[in-house]
Amino acid sequence: MIILGIETSCDETGVAILKIKEKESKIEILANELFSQAKLHAKYGGVYPTLAKREHKKNLPVLLKRAIEKANPKKIDLLAVTVGPGLDPCLWEGINFAKEFAKKEKISIVPVNHIEAHILINFLSNLNFNLFPTICLIVSGGHTQLILMKKIGNYKILGETRDDAAGECLDKVARLLGLGYPGGPAIEKIASLKLQASRFKIHLPRPMINQKNFDFSFSGLKTAVLYDFKNKSEKERKSKEYKVAMAREVQQAVIDVLIEKTLRAAKIFKVKAIVFGGGVMANKQLRKQLVERIEKETPKVEYFIPEPKYCTDNGVMVAIAGFFHKKRKIKNFEKIKAEANLKVSVPL
Ligand code: KG4
Ligand code: ZN
Repeated sequence: MIILGIETSCDETGVAILKIKEKESKIEILANELFSQAKLHAKYGGVYPTLAKREHKKNLPVLLKRAIEKANPKKIDLLAVTVGPGLDPCLWEGINFAKEFAKKEKISIVPVNHIEAHILINFLSNLNFNLFPTICLIVSGGHTQLILMKKIGNYKILGETRDDAAGECLDKVARLLGLGYPGGPAIEKIASLKLQASRFKIHLPRPMINQKNFDFSFSGLKTAVLYDFKNKSEKERKSKEYKVAMAREVQQAVIDVLIEKTLRAAKIFKVKAIVFGGGVMANKQLRKQLVERIEKETPKVEYFIPEPKYCTDNGVMVAIAGFFHKKRKIKNFEKIKAEANLKVSVPL
């Protein structure tokens, strides 16, 4: 079957077309078109919803045309679109575009939960995934959640951030240091420079790392960065060494907390697998340290980390989620609405 996936929940416009051969459990990505608005939002230091909506409106027809030209499908069988969680005006832009196209093509729509799509992209090369229970860690600019997955469609949120998401924290720190937006990749880049920065000995807290729950908190980390920053002279703050030292420490603080809580959940719930998703998972240090610690501490647990391009928002993950939930397809489009605060634990 041929599935079209549309993603517009935040600042990436994603359109993908997949060919899924169910009997052979094979997925072929015929087209994966993406437009990242990151540069446009850079001057605001974060996503500016009205601008994002306008950009989605402009980009959707262009990306769809390009995707259809590339994929050249005989017929599209099903359309999957993200309905939440995300920015309300952005979600509506994708939904309305999807409805228009589906009406024209006389096909049904599967509404998709964005967080579930981040989880299900892990099964891109493993449609018959059956290692349950599984722990899912989703870390993005809007979310930081640890989820217990009993099967596809059955999720329990074990914990989540009580304030800022991990990506949001990195974005804010990057802004303070003048590194640009999105902050995660900017912090990763400067932290990896081969530069001695040991004259700055910075120790940031690892918020909630020793608490027995699975919640996170990253706003205190941002405040601790601000404190240190304010105590430095103008010259020190602007020095490359300071930025490098701070980027390394804040990145490591986020990594330590994410890994500790995920491994603890994996052990307590005796899971068979751990899967990851969300933009922050594109971070090379996080990926490297995760692999090392999983292999050392829970060697029997399987783990899946999507390729970096599938960690950040994209249309492929929406199409996959649409495939797994194809029975949920809807013909009466009136029922399909944006749900900005949708929870992964509440089935659509
Ligand atoms: O999943 P995503 O593309 O969009 C949301 O749903 O939020 O995640 C975007 C977030 C941003 O906060 C960005 O700074 C962060 O992911 N991010 C990274 C990296 N690439 C993106 N954080 C750390 N290291 C990266 N390489
Ligand atoms: Zn996302």
